[in-house]
Amino acid sequence: MAGPAIAQKHDMGGMDGHGNHAVPPTNANPVLPEGHPLKELPRLSNQSAAPGVFKVKLAAEPGTMRFAEGLDTPVLLYNGTNPVIEAREGDKVEISFKNGIPGEPTTIHWHGMPVPADQDGNPMDPVVSGGDRIYAFDLPEGSAAPYWFHPHPHGLTAEQVYRGLAGVFLVKPKDDPIPSEYGDTILMLTDLRIAADGTMPESTMADLMNGRVGDHVLVNGQKNPTMAVAVGEKRRLRLFNATNARFLRLKFENASMTVIGTDGGLIEAPVAVDELLLTPAERVELIVSFDKPGTAMLTTLEYERGWMGPGKPNEADMTLLTAHVSDAPASAIPPLPAKLRTIEALENPVVTRRFVLTESMGGMDHSNMSMQGMDHSNMSMSSDSMEMKFLINGASFDMHRIDVVSKVGQVELWEVVNEADMDHPFHVHGTQFQIIEHEKDGKVTRPAYRAWKDTVNIVAGETVRILLRQDLPGPRMYHCHILEHEQLGMMGTIDVRA
Ligand code: C2O
Ligand code: CU
Ligand code: CU
Repeated sequence: MAGPAIAQKHDMGGMDGHGNHAVPPTNANPVLPEGHPLKELPRLSNQSAAPGVFKVKLAAEPGTMRFAEGLDTPVLLYNGTNPVIEAREGDKVEISFKNGIPGEPTTIHWHGMPVPADQDGNPMDPVVSGGDRIYAFDLPEGSAAPYWFHPHPHGLTAEQVYRGLAGVFLVKPKDDPIPSEYGDTILMLTDLRIAADGTMPESTMADLMNGRVGDHVLVNGQKNPTMAVAVGEKRRLRLFNATNARFLRLKFENASMTVIGTDGGLIEAPVAVDELLLTPAERVELIVSFDKPGTAMLTTLEYERGWMGPGKPNEADMTLLTAHVSDAPASAIPPLPAKLRTIEALENPVVTRRFVLTESMGGMDHSNMSMQGMDHSNMSMSSDSMEMKFLINGASFDMHRIDVVSKVGQVELWEVVNEADMDHPFHVHGTQFQIIEHEKDGKVTRPAYRAWKDTVNIVAGETVRILLRQDLPGPRMYHCHILEHEQLGMMGTIDVRA
């Protein structure tokens, strides 16, 4: 299952970070250029002329990117890039997919989208290397939201994603309450680790434990790009955390942030915030008001997510994006509407399910064992001497096992309990859920607003209660979206029956 698969791939010299590369990645990090104007990710144009039909071809293939001057980085890309698919509520979507990755199966998973289970790129439905298939689904009314897509093959998801495979799937509503004057800017956040020769080093033991965190956080593939705005201007920014494992606690300096949407689309009314935490796979839609001339910056704050062992990456004080705010005032900017939409509360669950997240190291429960103070050279890198497992209800993912049987259309209360020492962002396929409450050390807190979510961070020691309903039958995955944890077992399958 996932453990052995990743071990085979990595324990032959890759675990210590040297791999086949002559130059160790640390100490000799290439410098990435900063301060160039933000580029838009390329939008794939519709190949169908029929109204209400959206057709594209997608191919996953090796390519190269130039992140640092003079260095080519081998990557994996969709159609040579990280594309944006933009369709509308009500559209019929047909995607002809080809797997051009040499020697590896893949799938495309439509993260957060209400697509049929057999079209959702489950690990049980791989597309072999050189193979192709069609993904077809309809976008229901009310499904407008900032979704994304990425591979989900058994045992290879983490690597295919950090190598570059990800794209944005924007579903637009028939009528958008957000003024078009605010624009609509996608900010896809990824992080990158490259060695001095431009290649991406293989993952280390620390990467497998904590999830792989890159050295550079990129926005649409660029380091600290810039945008130009006029004072008084408001911009709609859609942020996607497409990293494998980076927790982004964000704030905007010299500009104010208002949340208007989450994973599953608009919330009911705008909510002003000073900062926000965007964990792997989460999305947020913001209106940013540039009320002061000068420089406004999207920056990061420290966040403690329970890093194990040495090598905790620097998280605070990174500048992800810089806006140059001119003092020529913006022309008439319409106000943000006070009401964005109505979200009906999910109510009256007919079943309660409990999912307990734990970590185990070499047969020991991680909570009994301290990783602090272990240095890198002490850590045994072989998978036989140290078996890392990330479990849900004591079980490691098994593709051939159904963990939960459920029913189409029934509202369920899920209690997700984090008994591990790290935060785990918990994701459910095929639907959007509502967070009811967080409980930690006996203290219960409720979210400040009702929202549709498909991923929620479960802080170490915390229990989160969510309400959800699956409207389509078939097997669905639920898992930690630190992709290395998903790969090391923290995933299960719910079979939704008609
Ligand atoms: Cu982004 Cu299984 O999901
Ligand atoms: Cu998903
Ligand atoms: Cu996790």
